[in-house]
Amino acid sequence: MPDLGNIPPTIWWEDGTVRMIDQSRLPLVGDLLVCNSFEGVCTAISGMAVRGAPALGVAAALGVALWSETAGAGIDDLRYYLDELDRVADEIATTRPTAVNLKWGAERMKRFARENSDVGLDALRPLVLQEALAIRTEDEERNRSLGAHGAALIESGSRVLTHCNAGSLATAYFGTALGVIFSAHAEGKIVQVWVDETRPVLQGARLTAWELRMAGVPCKLICDNMAAAVMRQGLVDAVIVGADRIAANGDVANKIGTYSLAVLCKEHGIPFYVAAPSSTMDLTLVSGDGIEIEERDEREVTGVTVSGVIEPRTSIETKALDALTEAGPYPLGMTKGHQMELSRKGGAYQFDAWLRVAPPNVEVYNPAFDVTPAEYVTAIVTERGIARAPYGISLAELCSGTGAIHELG
Ligand code: MRU
Repeated sequence: MPDLGNIPPTIWWEDGTVRMIDQSRLPLVGDLLVCNSFEGVCTAISGMAVRGAPALGVAAALGVALWSETAGAGIDDLRYYLDELDRVADEIATTRPTAVNLKWGAERMKRFARENSDVGLDALRPLVLQEALAIRTEDEERNRSLGAHGAALIESGSRVLTHCNAGSLATAYFGTALGVIFSAHAEGKIVQVWVDETRPVLQGARLTAWELRMAGVPCKLICDNMAAAVMRQGLVDAVIVGADRIAANGDVANKIGTYSLAVLCKEHGIPFYVAAPSSTMDLTLVSGDGIEIEERDEREVTGVTVSGVIEPRTSIETKALDALTEAGPYPLGMTKGHQMELSRKGGAYQFDAWLRVAPPNVEVYNPAFDVTPAEYVTAIVTERGIARAPYGISLAELCSGTGAIHELG
């Protein structure tokens, strides 16, 4: 039985602020980030302090609510409030382009505010906050239900491989692909999880391995380029991943490297499952060709970012660390290009280092996501049930809320 009690909540509302665990530094530094303005939420999203498609949908909703409770609280004209809320929601929605949940959360807040505006501005503001909180609660409910549906697909004694982090940290709580794994593990079906490290940002090594260890689910970490060999050795029974956007035909955008796993699954006769809530479906797109793929900073590829805490053992070490802290972003001596920043944390020092591994001036291409064509996807697990090809029909039925369930174990 997995023990989720040790996994912290991802993002929440407290004392008029939006709070989150800073995922850019996990697992060696577990900082709490407090956002006092919607601009702070935007910075947290673009810096990947909060990441993962469903969590981004929640962040968008809470960001809009935060604006409504802070800058928006000074507005006394209803029409102006609604126009400004639209502007703020649009700004949040465009902080990252690929995960449709971000736009979904922002659009739902815009729609809610307009549809309920006849109550007047004073009554509307608390309702806007309640709506954002409801989006957060619903996300966890959706994941739990999705997990139960997906567990039915997993055979007893399975060794399952996952990519990136589609865990509790990528959602309000519980996770999508990891939600399925947690549920299947609770049913005694999971023997082991293979965790792809997921270069360049290492969400697998840093976040998924951490969550699975916290929950007591047996796992083994591999580099992304080891998956083929592990499959060929007959050590993988299923692959399950999350999604950032699913088009109407079942094409799936997810973390870069997902497509190669799907192709490998086809070659080795391994089922390839995608777990995603309805907030990740973008039925306005006929295929994955229309999905914008985010390109990120080349430094993610030319180096590695590491954060941690140093506890000095002697006064000489403390002096040296103090000197480095004063020096500001510190170019480490031996190789030009390395950078380290230190900050005091009680009696210890937190470091944020970027270590160059590639030669300076090398050209880089860094797409953060890829699109897996629907033909490689064995099934898509949603909170309403399991969709199989032809996805054009099954996804439309599940997402329109007609309640059609194509398969339940
Ligand atoms: O760049 P990230 O970390 O936001 O990418 C996250 C992923 O690709 C996840 O697999 C996806 O959002 C599904 S999360 C339930």
